[in-house]
Amino acid sequence: MRIAVLTSGGDAPGMNAALRTIAVAGAQRGHSVLGVRHGYHGLLEGDVTALDYAAVDGITRSGGTILGSSRSAEFPTPEGQKRARARVAELGIDALVTIGGNGTLTGAHLLGTGESPRPCLVIGLPGSIDNDIGHSGLAIGVDTAVNTIVEACDRIADTAQAHRRAFVVEVMGRACGFLAMRAGVAAEADAILYGENNMSDDELVARTRTVLQRCFAPGGHKKRALILKSEGVKMSTHALVERLAVHLREDAPGVDIRETVLGHVVRGGNPSALDRMVAQRLGYGAVLACEDGAHDVMLGWEVPGGFGDKTPDHSIRRVPIAEVLAETARLLDGTSPVIRKRMELLRQVEDLLAI
Ligand code: F6P
Repeated sequence: MRIAVLTSGGDAPGMNAALRTIAVAGAQRGHSVLGVRHGYHGLLEGDVTALDYAAVDGITRSGGTILGSSRSAEFPTPEGQKRARARVAELGIDALVTIGGNGTLTGAHLLGTGESPRPCLVIGLPGSIDNDIGHSGLAIGVDTAVNTIVEACDRIADTAQAHRRAFVVEVMGRACGFLAMRAGVAAEADAILYGENNMSDDELVARTRTVLQRCFAPGGHKKRALILKSEGVKMSTHALVERLAVHLREDAPGVDIRETVLGHVVRGGNPSALDRMVAQRLGYGAVLACEDGAHDVMLGWEVPGGFGDKTPDHSIRRVPIAEVLAETARLLDGTSPVIRKRMELLRQVEDLLAI
């Protein structure tokens, strides 16, 4: 088969590990493997390169994506889809593996369901630090992002403690609070603010003030306070800190408050061992899925409720992309049971945070 692979949307650590596995497993199983540069934009331009052993040697350990990525505005349009299908036919691609998040999978589904001059299988792999992809317990990049946040918080805690300061640290995740939740617990944050519980600005301020009062109560042992805030919280970090600062003298006498927005720091860096392993297993699964003629499916990793089914690899399940997109929408609007479970778990540990 002629298998093409692309990475699209926000890059995620571990994408390279998936690319290497697809290239090597593909070649060893008798396929020719092409890399499409810069995501769907590159597909429209026919910008492809051979993914041979030399191209992928040693890339497992590096962050980003050797193929480059993009967010193409043209690809999802009817004209873009027509051009993309013509390009796929011209390049003689039998199967296209797309690695990315919600936008990437939406694009893959569009491409996989429309009429095409040449049949081409479409397989998706979940790759996004946000962990907001339906039917996948984990996506490529999430574990590294969590570790990066924890490391950054540990560093901030050192300096915060030295100066008896409170810090509000904002982390990526788009509308999804997973990164803040998981990293916050691991970093021993005093409070975790996330968008899924739709708190108003006043509620956020009141909740955070209570935490600061508790942390810096007279006679207390605390030398720092760490508030982890997801970018999905509507109130801006700056506005929150400004409002907290107004009451700081009464809530936490002698304490200073600062903000740090980690931004794209969270998305880069060498992938963790877990991300490499997940990416390798998904990459291998993608080659097998192509051989099986699977189409318009995403390979979910540790699909909630997916254990014990009949798939040979119980960690991976092929889920129709349409179902993935529907569940992703529920994750984003908060109606998915997965979100309720995440919030419930966090509520259980919340009292252990600010002591
Ligand atoms: O989806 C991954 C992500 O890093 C989000 O966490 C973040 O909101 C967004 O991408 C940033 O996108 P960009 O790099 O295009 O600004």
